[in-house]
Amino acid sequence: MEPIRYQAGELYMEGVPVSRIAEQFGTPTYLYSRQAIESAYHRFANAFSGRPAMVCYAVKANSNLAVLDLLARLGAGFDIVSGGELERVLAVGAPAARIVFSGVGKQTHEIARALEAGIACFNLESASELEHINRIAGECQKVAPISIRVNPNVDARTHPYISTGLKENKFGVPVTGARALYRTAAKMDHVEVAGIDCHIGSQITSLAPFLDAIEAILELVDELTRDGHNLRHIDLGGGIGVRYRDEPLVDINEYAGAVIQAMGRRPQELWFEPGRYIVANAGLLVARVITIKDNEGKHFAVIDAAMNDLIRPALYGAWQDVTPVVQRAGESVVYDVVGPVCETGDFLAKSRPLCIAEDDLVAIHDAGAYGFVMSSNYNSRGRAAEVIVSGDEIQCVRARETIEDQLRLEQKFKL
Ligand code: LLP
Repeated sequence: MEPIRYQAGELYMEGVPVSRIAEQFGTPTYLYSRQAIESAYHRFANAFSGRPAMVCYAVKANSNLAVLDLLARLGAGFDIVSGGELERVLAVGAPAARIVFSGVGKQTHEIARALEAGIACFNLESASELEHINRIAGECQKVAPISIRVNPNVDARTHPYISTGLKENKFGVPVTGARALYRTAAKMDHVEVAGIDCHIGSQITSLAPFLDAIEAILELVDELTRDGHNLRHIDLGGGIGVRYRDEPLVDINEYAGAVIQAMGRRPQELWFEPGRYIVANAGLLVARVITIKDNEGKHFAVIDAAMNDLIRPALYGAWQDVTPVVQRAGESVVYDVVGPVCETGDFLAKSRPLCIAEDDLVAIHDAGAYGFVMSSNYNSRGRAAEVIVSGDEIQCVRARETIEDQLRLEQKFKL
């Protein structure tokens, strides 16, 4: 049975009507299906079961502790991009040996803490970062395992804000400079060349950009091997797209087949950093309709979730499905579904035919990735609650933020 579906006109997550969760925890609330997360993880991991591979879930997609715990229990590795994400992963007891540290601006204290924890690899993005990490590792009397993130100059054909593999993007080291940088790394006392890394973007919906990137990386791997480097792993990043509306999908088995075929007899372990693929379709954002209004024929449904809760529509023009939690009979009206925040950019969906009334619940679908994690307190709105559903059971895994929570860190002016 689909984990998120309609049953007799009511939206369910696993064995629980979504309306019951909204009654119990209020709105807006993020709901995640354990079954959906687990099956996405298994689909990804099983696609590579024929080869040594590590699936490092990209924590940035959804960093709730319970989500991380769930994935750690399945044996996932983790891709982190900050000291904060490192602490989250360590807090759920995941082994440091399954953590990789990505990101274009790692800070000294973050690097030192990751070295102390003993993570599997640092994905480096510049010559300066290599110097930096060698120095910090020296001070900590450690040797840092490193990969260089190579920018293969491939067009991921996705939204420009989340395309990372072109030479004009801030990420990685150009293929042409990577060889010299590996040579420099190999001479350093406090770094050890462990692998190579690449990530070309997010929400990629065709195989071709991945294949172009893999081809460029493998050519470089062969050169590096000839240069005498012992690369133990190849990290191909994340980026596999999901369906929000009618996007074509990259079939994970086809992707895996193509990667495995391209690898040929090369001995390296494969690492991946999927985020969206694991959690996007597993999440709903449930909200309540506050007001229905009509401005000279233009219809608005003002709901209690806003751009501060889910910024993807406002920031990327992203399309996410919106449906009533309990279907009602009647005519549909075309609405812009908007939040209470004071700007025109505050919309969750535009021009959607919906049959809804004030006080109804609506669900914004496929909100498990880059939803809650990108939320803010704009307009002094408390951040939403988060709930996981597992069969007939419900656990609130993050309480709704109160105004006391928001004010706790601030002070009145005293000077
Ligand atoms: N690895 C690295 C180095 C990354 O930068 C990212 C995502 C991932 C892995 C995971 O990519 P995924 O498998 O989730 O596509 N906020 C945007 C997406 C930003 C992606 C940033 N990097 C959105 O809501 O669409």
